Amino acid sequence: PRVAVVFGGRSSEHGISCVTAGSVLSALDRARWDVVPLGIATDGRWVLETDDPSRLALGDDGSLPAVDPTRPAVALAPLAGGAALVLTEDPEGPRSLGPVDVVLPLLHGPYGEDGTLQGLLEMVGLRYVGAGVLASAVSMDKASMKVVLAAAGLPVLPSRTVTARAWADDAAGCASRAEALGLPVFVKPLRGGSSIGISKVTAWTDLTAAVDEALRHDTAALVEAGAVDAREVECGVLEDADGALRTSVPAEIRVGEGHDFYDFEAKYLPGQATEVDLPADLDDVVVARLQALAVRTFEAVGCSGLARVDFFVLPGGELVVNEINTMPGFTPTSMFPQVWAASGVDYPALVDHLVTVALE
Ligand code: DAL
Ligand code: MG
Repeated sequence: PRVAVVFGGRSSEHGISCVTAGSVLSALDRARWDVVPLGIATDGRWVLETDDPSRLALGDDGSLPAVDPTRPAVALAPLAGGAALVLTEDPEGPRSLGPVDVVLPLLHGPYGEDGTLQGLLEMVGLRYVGAGVLASAVSMDKASMKVVLAAAGLPVLPSRTVTARAWADDAAGCASRAEALGLPVFVKPLRGGSSIGISKVTAWTDLTAAVDEALRHDTAALVEAGAVDAREVECGVLEDADGALRTSVPAEIRVGEGHDFYDFEAKYLPGQATEVDLPADLDDVVVARLQALAVRTFEAVGCSGLARVDFFVLPGGELVVNEINTMPGFTPTSMFPQVWAASGVDYPALVDHLVTVALE
């Protein structure tokens, strides 16, 4: 079958998506899958990328790869019961490259992980890996996600949403409503990932800069109560072909000195002293509760295929759902492939499973 691996995209996680794609392109079994690498440039242009995973690696200096916008432009054209890939700017005129069987959308953030791409794929009748339109959209928007999770009885941290308009009209009012959360708070772009645009605020005088920073990435910011002395634990969820859900062993992330929290550098850059306990050192009872909460979170947003559910373990042992990621990273330092490798599903088997289930 023909798999279109889509990566890059218009969000601030473009480079991380490329690193994810580099790893996945290396892992896909070419005897089994006819792979077409489809890049989305930062300006939104779709191109036929070179099938060269080494070009998509993170640089030793932490430099991020990008989709080459000068590659031949392509588009997905609807067919009865599927879609074909079309070279749109061929000198001889548009030229079909034939049908695609399944899409692996390795996109993080808005315009990829938020239901927009999923809507396009639904429109053209293409099967794809992972969450559908609603689950993707709900999970990307941190305020909507909390509403849905709380309505399902799942524990989430309290927060306030600050829109750019409210902030421009009445920053003092927004700040005083946020202060009810108590310090510290984390200020995040409402829809983002990889910790880009996130600040930890430990003094209210720093709130303005933090909200301004989050609003550079989105039209709204989330001010969220910070869980003090909490441990950060992540769990993978995988759906099988029959719809059954499996959870991985959980992993704990321990961020090294020099990082206030699990920020972008701690997530991806080499030599950042981020330690991973795999499996996390937790009582069996806590692990079972955490895995059950991961499944309930997955179901609450109506997710499909895969997700990574991130938790805080509070000092008293209480569990809180931080968030669900519907297309978690697959980079060499990403947690999702690591928790599955520790659970007996290695990287190539994981990728194979995702594509196989999406095709059924
Ligand atoms: N948003 C990043 C890629 C993650 O969740 O792994
Ligand atoms: Mg996230």
